Amino acid sequence: MTVPVFKQGWTLDEVQWSAFDPSRVEAPLLAAVKAAALVEYNAPDYVAYLKRIFTDSTPATLDWIERWGAEEAQHGQALGRWAEMADPGFRMEEAFARFRKGYTPPHFSSAEAASVRGSRRGEMIARCVVESGTSSYYSAIRDATEEPLLREIAGRIAADEYRHYKLFYDTLRAQPEPQLSFWKKLMIAIGRVRESDDDELAYAFYCANVTPEEEALTPYERKKYAQLSASASLSIYQRRHIQKLVQMVVKVIGANPHGWLAELAGSLLWRRLQRLAGKAA
Ligand SMILES: [Fe+2]
Ligand SMILES: [Fe+2]
Repeated sequence: MTVPVFKQGWTLDEVQWSAFDPSRVEAPLLAAVKAAALVEYNAPDYVAYLKRIFTDSTPATLDWIERWGAEEAQHGQALGRWAEMADPGFRMEEAFARFRKGYTPPHFSSAEAASVRGSRRGEMIARCVVESGTSSYYSAIRDATEEPLLREIAGRIAADEYRHYKLFYDTLRAQPEPQLSFWKKLMIAIGRVRESDDDELAYAFYCANVTPEEEALTPYERKKYAQLSASASLSIYQRRHIQKLVQMVVKVIGANPHGWLAELAGSLLWRRLQRLAGKAA
C-alpha cells in the first residue's frame, strides 16, 4: 500500500494581515466566519479518532493524520484572528472553550478503535464529503467577500481543503479492504451530508455569536441557531460552487463527475439551498 504524501500549505506568518479593511466587513459573513473558526479549531478531537481507526498503520500514515489536523486547527486560528480584528469584542479562545464544553460527538469520546462508518474506506468517504463541503464553502466565501484579508484567508483555506480531499481520496483507494458497493458508498455519503444538520454548526454559531454575558437571557435553541447559521452562510454560494461540491462527492462514490448523476444532484441541491436560504432570510 502506498502512503499518500502530505504537502504543507502555508503558515500564519505568510498572511498579509496588514491588508485588513474594516470598512468592508459584512455582518452576516462575520457571524459565519466566527462559527467556522470554532469548528475548524476543534480538529484535534478528530485527529485522535482517526488515529484510533488507523492504529495499526505505518508511522507515515499516523504522521500525516497529525499534520492534516494541525492544518485544520490553523484554519481555525486564521479565521479566529480575522474575526477578532473585525469584531474586537469577539474572544476566540473564550468562545471555543464554551463550544468544547457543550459539544462532543459520541464517536469522539468512545475509546473504540473502529469507524462509525463501518470500515476505513467508509470513513475516508465521509472525510471526502466533509472536505468537498469545506472546499466549496471557503471558495464561496473568497468569491463573496469584498474584504481583502478575508478573501486571502478563505482562498488559502479552500486550496488546503481541496488538497485534504485528494489526500483522503488517495487513502481510500489505498486501503487493502474489499471494495464497497455503489449503494453502500452512496448511503455513507448521504449519511454524512445529513449529519451536517446536527448540533455542531448550530451550537458553534451560538457560542461564536452570543457572549457569555448574554447567555442567561439568550439560551441555546437548536432550531433557531441552525436557522441563523444557515441564513448567514447559504446566501454566499453561487451555482458553480455547488456544482463543484457535487462533482467531488460523486467522484468519491465512483460515478462520473460529469455524468447525469452529478447534473441531477447539482440542480436538486441548488434548488434546496435556494429554498433554505429564502426560508432562513
Ligand atoms: Fe479546514
Ligand atoms: Fe480540511
